[in-house]
Amino acid sequence: MKQRELGTSGIEVSAIGLGCMGFSGSYGPVDEQECVATVRRALDLGVTLFDTADFYGPGTSERLLGRALAGRRDEAVIASKTGMRRTDEGRMWVDGSPEYLTSAIDGTLERLGVDHLDLYYLARVSPEVTIEESVGALGALVAAGKVRAIGLCEASADTLRKANGVHPISALQTEYSLWERHVEERILPACVELEITLVPYRPLGSGFLTGAIASPADLPEGDFRRADPRFSPENWEQNDRIGRAVRELARTKDATPSQIAIAWVLAQGETTESIVPIPGCKRRTHLVDNVAAAEVMLSTADLAALDAAASMGTAGDRFPAPLLALVDRD
Ligand SMILES: NC(=O)c1ccc[n+]([C@@H]2O[C@H](COP(=O)([O-])OP(=O)(O)OC[C@H]3O[C@@H](n4cnc5c(N)ncnc54)[C@H](OP(=O)(O)O)[C@@H]3O)[C@@H](O)[C@H]2O)c1
Repeated sequence: MKQRELGTSGIEVSAIGLGCMGFSGSYGPVDEQECVATVRRALDLGVTLFDTADFYGPGTSERLLGRALAGRRDEAVIASKTGMRRTDEGRMWVDGSPEYLTSAIDGTLERLGVDHLDLYYLARVSPEVTIEESVGALGALVAAGKVRAIGLCEASADTLRKANGVHPISALQTEYSLWERHVEERILPACVELEITLVPYRPLGSGFLTGAIASPADLPEGDFRRADPRFSPENWEQNDRIGRAVRELARTKDATPSQIAIAWVLAQGETTESIVPIPGCKRRTHLVDNVAAAEVMLSTADLAALDAAASMGTAGDRFPAPLLALVDRD
């Protein structure tokens, strides 16, 4: 597996990481033993970057990841996030206050069973607290030895610049895939300029690009994607144009659709070496499939075919309105 440096931190990670959000049940029932086995298999395959957050569950993903890494902590680069909270009614809100960010880390370390975290992200940029204050608080955690490097999620190019002026930002985690390319205009160039690694989340379009979901009706009752505009029946046909192109190319290259989707993301970082996708899964079959994407080489013609299919754009917002409102934009 190729290695990438997280920003200029000196921390090396595998070119493909593992997203552990599903360990808390966001993509259906969780088999804890299988999650643990998935993490250990990932390590065996050379995957070193593991992504979680204190609000996944809350706490359950961190706990399960910690259990899986017991005895093998030194082989892993653990990334977690904080700053997203839920009201009693279940509404998500952003708390970027220094008090909250400084206090949340101890719970994360305890749940993971570690004495320090490798990468700590601010999960969303607060509309109420300046980015300088939030990043200042995270930087103090680095100085205290609790965290090795810090990152932001879903930050605009301007916010990245301001943040990086306070403390080096090693990674920006944001959505990037064949069906979500907003980062290309300003954010990715800013990452390259500031030497910040882009960590694309949802590289499989929340499963859409894997080819495993034939229609919106396949999604079980209560699945969060039923409220995701991009999975809605009225947007399915347009969005499946991208899905079809991925599946077709997979057939001709003797690969799987998931591998093509991940290989496309990897190809966007080939020249800059600054992109580390974190496909999420909670079973070994998916993991093995996804890790093999590192070996799938897309030609210029392959990339052009995928780009052509994606050129009409994706129908529907990428989140339901309340979650979209939490995204920082220039
Ligand atoms: N910073 C943020 O705001 C943010 C937001 C969302 C996610 N994230 C992070 O990014 C990670 C990845 O995003 P994501 O998990 O939401 O979306 P994703 O990686 O695009 O897709 C995950 C879905 O695809 C399925 N899948 C994975 N590999 C597959 C394969 N080879 N064949 C068929 N299906 C496959 C998974 O199934 P199984 O689960 O059943 O294996 C799951 O349902 C998360 O785990 C989380 O760590 C961050």
